[in-house]
Amino acid sequence: MDKHSVQIKAGQGYKVSVGSGLLTQCGQDLVALLPSRRIAIITDSTVEKLYLPAARSSLEQAGFQVSSFSFPAGESSKTIYTLAQILEFLAAQQLTRQDCLAALGGGVVGDITGFAAGCYLRGIHYVQLPTTLLAAVDSSVGGKTAVDLRAGKNLAGLFIQPAAVICDTDCLATLPPAILADGMAEAVKTAILSGEAMFARFESGQIEAQQAEMILDCVRCKGAIVEADEFENGPRQLLNLGHTIGHAVEKCSNYQITHGHAVAIGTAIISRAAERLGFCRLPLAQRIEAVLRRCNLPIHSPFGVEELAAAALVDKKRRGNKLTLVIPHSIGDCRLHQIEIEQLATIIQAGMEDWA
Ligand SMILES: NC(=O)c1ccc[n+]([C@@H]2O[C@H](COP(=O)([O-])OP(=O)(O)OC[C@H]3O[C@@H](n4cnc5c(N)ncnc54)[C@H](O)[C@@H]3O)[C@@H](O)[C@H]2O)c1
Ligand SMILES: [Zn+2]
Repeated sequence: MDKHSVQIKAGQGYKVSVGSGLLTQCGQDLVALLPSRRIAIITDSTVEKLYLPAARSSLEQAGFQVSSFSFPAGESSKTIYTLAQILEFLAAQQLTRQDCLAALGGGVVGDITGFAAGCYLRGIHYVQLPTTLLAAVDSSVGGKTAVDLRAGKNLAGLFIQPAAVICDTDCLATLPPAILADGMAEAVKTAILSGEAMFARFESGQIEAQQAEMILDCVRCKGAIVEADEFENGPRQLLNLGHTIGHAVEKCSNYQITHGHAVAIGTAIISRAAERLGFCRLPLAQRIEAVLRRCNLPIHSPFGVEELAAAALVDKKRRGNKLTLVIPHSIGDCRLHQIEIEQLATIIQAGMEDWA
């Protein structure tokens, strides 16, 4: 394994490659890996214009017969309706079990393409070609796939690991700043889980200049967690740091606040709460807030305690009257706490009071 890739031991096992110029050579990388020479690229309307030609031509040069399907960019496309269109497209193209899908795009494309791969013909291969920072550091690895239902986000989906992840860091250059920041929120979350060595690089500001290294660090950390608990029965829940309150923020905003920005707010609130309720070694919240701010991310909720608590209680991870919350005790030591649902408002309150 070279220094630009990480091997993930989940599913059939797969390599995550990260670096400049990888999209133009994805064909030759995949030709050695896949059983057939047919591939369908699934992408969205924005990424289609920017990166479909390069991906297609690389795959064609390597001998693949390539078809492509694109849907309108944005979370509002992550539905069973788009999923149905993709499945009908695959059937019309007569893709077989030996063939492959390629998810070219951000987390929305990755989540829906993985879902399509998991259920078309009861499961075919897929690869991830992430083009957002969020997809690079988080969603392209780990095999969680989903679409949103009217009742809530990611409520239908399945676990299926990709056959490969190829992340061309050149694609990240065209991301608008707010979408880049979304990815940084998940990267900061991963650094808090990982430990002082990784978190210190965020504090020093070194990471902007070392984007590929940061992505590899995140993939290594997430990969290890996924390997230990592929189906999220235990430690994988740690990746939900900041997400219980983050999801509530997203929901209260009617999804106008994006996932990464909401997770940043959720992470800041749970860190302050951990500090005020005496769970953690000081200073913690201040350090986390400073890093989030450096990444141009918000750390305060525009919604009140009651509103957030009510929204959080319909979280799909709730089990009866209990909820598993990830509480940071220090950088590199986050723990799962089973709490009674009535305690949640108190915890959110602790994370929101005394604002300057
Ligand atoms: N499966 C998982 O483990 C996991 C983890 C975290 C988040 N997610 C999911 O990921 C989704 C969010 O992902 P996202 O933030 O990547 O959103 P996204 O896929 O909607 O991408 C954001 C926007 O950026 C555009 N875009 C993509 N690549 C671009 C590029 N290189 N240059 C310019 N524009 C580009 C897209 O067209 C879109 O408009 C959510 O649905 C969330 O639930 C999944
Ligand atoms: Zn997330």
